[in-house]
Amino acid sequence: MRLQDARRDYYRNLAHEQGFRSRSAYKLKELNQSYRLIGPGFYVLDLGCAPGGWTQIAVKLSGNKGKVMGVDLSYVEEISGAHLMRGNIEDESILDEILEYFGRKVNAVICDLSPQVSGNWTVDHAKQISLNYDCTKIMDKVLMHKGNAVFKIFDGQYSMEFRDFIKKKFARINLTKPPASRKQSSELYCVCLGYTG
Ligand SMILES: C[S@@+](CC[C@H](N)C(=O)[O-])C[C@H]1O[C@@H](n2cnc3c(N)ncnc32)[C@H](O)[C@@H]1O
Repeated sequence: MRLQDARRDYYRNLAHEQGFRSRSAYKLKELNQSYRLIGPGFYVLDLGCAPGGWTQIAVKLSGNKGKVMGVDLSYVEEISGAHLMRGNIEDESILDEILEYFGRKVNAVICDLSPQVSGNWTVDHAKQISLNYDCTKIMDKVLMHKGNAVFKIFDGQYSMEFRDFIKKKFARINLTKPPASRKQSSELYCVCLGYTG
């Protein structure tokens, strides 16, 4: 078995053993260890949450004083401690339910969106970045001053343009790849700390 495959299996097995719905859960866990995006009592909005690994981690990190909501196009099985909504993040009318659920601005917006991939990288990359811009429209309405965010990025020709766009909204940003993200995948994570608007 190649080392990469062994590592992939390692996270998949760990997710299975520890009751997480996706191996992606460990990406958020590792990002949080490095950047403390989410802490106890945080209100967290998870955009593109299915099957729910990040939502599960967000519930654990924010604890019983926190509030977590996950949104996805797909149905997500109930997660104790989280409010789940089936909806399209391209449709700004989902904001009503988000604002109603939290009742105040949130501490963190976490986005792990992937479009239905077509196999044409240029198209898939452009669509994924476009979903991130849609997330920022929601984020601008719900994230509190000094709040945090993270965006998955399919790395390609528009990545730096998105990075420059988001950089203007935060005190600090960093493009990173957590160990749980497969080396051969072209995804990166843009960690954004200290929202300034
Ligand atoms: C990689 S998965 C997220 C995995 C998740 N973070 C976890 O740990 O389980 C990406 C998700 O983005 C969702 N998605 C893609 N486009 C969307 C849209 N327009 N609105 C809502 N969700 C969307 C997909 O349905 C998919 O479930």
